Amino acid sequence: MSTLNDFGSIDTCHILDIHEKYGAPAYIYDWAAIAERCSRVLSMPNAFGLTVRYAMKANSNRTLLREITGLGLHIDASSLAEARRAVMAGVGCEKIILSSQEIPCGSDRDTLEDMMKHGLLYNVCSLRQLRLIGEFAADSGIALSMRVHPGVGSGESASRNTGDHYSCFGVHLRDIGAALEYANGLGLKFTQVHAHIGSGGDPDLWRENIERELSILERHFPDAVSISFGGGLKEARMPGEDSADTEALGRYAAERLSAFYARTGRKLNMEIEPGTYIVANAGYALTRVMDKKSTGDGGFNFIVVNGGMELNARPAMYGSRHPFYVISRDGKLLSSEFGPIGGNFSAIVAGRCCESGDTQNVGADGRSVPRAMAEPEVGDFVVIGGAGAYCSSMAPFNYNSYSQAPEVLVRQDGSIQLIRRRQELEQIVANEAIDD
Ligand SMILES: Cc1ncc(COP(=O)(O)O)c(C=O)c1O
Repeated sequence: MSTLNDFGSIDTCHILDIHEKYGAPAYIYDWAAIAERCSRVLSMPNAFGLTVRYAMKANSNRTLLREITGLGLHIDASSLAEARRAVMAGVGCEKIILSSQEIPCGSDRDTLEDMMKHGLLYNVCSLRQLRLIGEFAADSGIALSMRVHPGVGSGESASRNTGDHYSCFGVHLRDIGAALEYANGLGLKFTQVHAHIGSGGDPDLWRENIERELSILERHFPDAVSISFGGGLKEARMPGEDSADTEALGRYAAERLSAFYARTGRKLNMEIEPGTYIVANAGYALTRVMDKKSTGDGGFNFIVVNGGMELNARPAMYGSRHPFYVISRDGKLLSSEFGPIGGNFSAIVAGRCCESGDTQNVGADGRSVPRAMAEPEVGDFVVIGGAGAYCSSMAPFNYNSYSQAPEVLVRQDGSIQLIRRRQELEQIVANEAIDD
């Protein structure tokens, strides 16, 4: 038995056991690793209080939501449906912030109002949203948060940068005056200012945003008692990458918030809403080798596995890199990119979807890039690491009519728990069967 790496507790016995019970493909989550990340962010240094919200878009599984909030994290929801899902998992509305591009209407609007009356914090993300929610909030005496568009952002890829002018999240600085004039007319208060500059970006730019956001708050938001610096804490998925230093970021934020207090007399609670940092490296996608091919001289070796972009779309979407673990069918770790066992077989790991882009290592030009690993045989396993965030929740899982993979949680005592069953084909077509 060998653990796959030195930062997690998943070992090759878990892989065989999970495969035997639930098959492949499957997602596997390491609760010890999630709990460790939760405790790290909850103990970040802060000046006048800290609220950590788990960005549930990263992974919305009900058991994970329940367990993570059980440790003291609150929830960041990106849609009313996510907020409802958190409530269905047992999370109180008062622990949820909603930052959404969508403006609920019809019965969804009623649900939103009800949730706001029960304490959900609505994060106004545009002038139009404010105009649609303002009167209800003012009449009900409910204070709001405002997501500002900081004008500067940083992300793992251009499409994950949410703060620059290619991205339309939040109330643009140009519109803040009009928004506040409207809110003041209604007697509406903003008790929080929020910005999220992007996902997986440069920690130095995350730090820089603190000062920028504080100055926006100081200039425009006299009632704010809380400031959210969003998510985006960088997590290294591959060897050689660096994760955000949460201790140092917390110390810096605390120092800036203390200086702000010394200058203005205002003590601000700090909020952050990490998703990736909490779950990314706690997750693995288990796949089985189905075929081996080669594209000849000047071409590449291909290892074809039974789960690709429909399990993990991040390489195809963002060019993201995920580590591979090759495990023999009898449970021997043949190679791990975290050493000490490397491999000298160069291959592209291809999925089973009818897409040439369905591989797990895509370069900047959209072409697949081979990686060094041990050479597996058909029937062996390729486990894709760094698959806890934005995999199960974001992949196009029904493409080619494949079924959504099961999710399995490995508890701290090593026991395994099925936390989502494999989808059946009948469930995929269930809503189409209206003429039968
Ligand atoms: C508003 C907001 N908060 C938090 C997050 C979580 O980001 P990450 O998973 O990089 O921590 C996101 C993701 O893009 C987001 O849009």
